[in-house]
Amino acid sequence: MTDTLIDLQKITRLYRSDDVETTALHNISLTIKRGEFVAIMGPSGCGKSTLLNVLGTIDRPTSGAYLFANEDGKSHDLARMSEKNLAKHRARHLGFIFQSFNLVDDLTIYENIELGLLYRDGRKGSRRQAIEGAMDKVGIAHRARHFPHQLSGGQQQRAAIARAIVGQPDLILADEPTGNLDTENGAQVMDILKGLNKGGATIIMVTHSQSHADQATRQVDILDGQLVASVAQVL
Ligand SMILES: Nc1ncnc2c1ncn2[C@@H]1O[C@H](COP(=O)(O)OP(=O)(O)OP(=O)(O)O)[C@@H](O)[C@H]1O
Ligand SMILES: [Mg+2]
Repeated sequence: MTDTLIDLQKITRLYRSDDVETTALHNISLTIKRGEFVAIMGPSGCGKSTLLNVLGTIDRPTSGAYLFANEDGKSHDLARMSEKNLAKHRARHLGFIFQSFNLVDDLTIYENIELGLLYRDGRKGSRRQAIEGAMDKVGIAHRARHFPHQLSGGQQQRAAIARAIVGQPDLILADEPTGNLDTENGAQVMDILKGLNKGGATIIMVTHSQSHADQATRQVDILDGQLVASVAQVL
């Protein structure tokens, strides 16, 4: 029995267009244990979002293996899994948070959060309970019937976090979740993420903020598509 959740082995991602080839990720090997809160840092264009998209199986590596351990301890190579099974994997295990919230404009906050349960089984009553529980966790329940444009940026991001966690994912992937927020709202989002991590969720967060990275349990530095440092932090 191991508590390794993720094992990336020599992950490379090339982007090819007509005559240009970009190496967005080069030979990234990285293991992440269940319960870690990893901050990924590095300059613009170094490959952070590409790495997060590979971790989220939105993007497939050009070469390398991506082993993911399920609850039963069995590992699967997501780099070689069919699209159909990847969709199941995402629905069952992953929650995504983006810099620009990505809420659907013409759905209410409640309905937006409900999207996090798409492709998941469950009766209506238990779905409602899950949605209300997620809204309570991020303090957005009083805005359930509002539409995204009626909310502040901080409230929108908290609703997006509720959507990410409503299915109780074991892995939360966040790409600059505080990038569009002021200091106070950014701090609130960090507090929520730390709370989710204490509750057992593994979190991988891309950030440009050193003070936010300092609140994670490990910092991983990327430069020109390569992993240059991985340092556990004493909190
Ligand atoms: N779809 C794509 N097609 C071609 N090249 C791409 C594509 N997506 C990313 N790249 C290139 O891959 C490299 C890494 O991009 P990526 O978006 O991962 O950087 P990043 O570290 O997230 O940057 P930022 O901090 O600005 O968000 C860049 O050189 C980028 O131009
Ligand atoms: Mg990016």
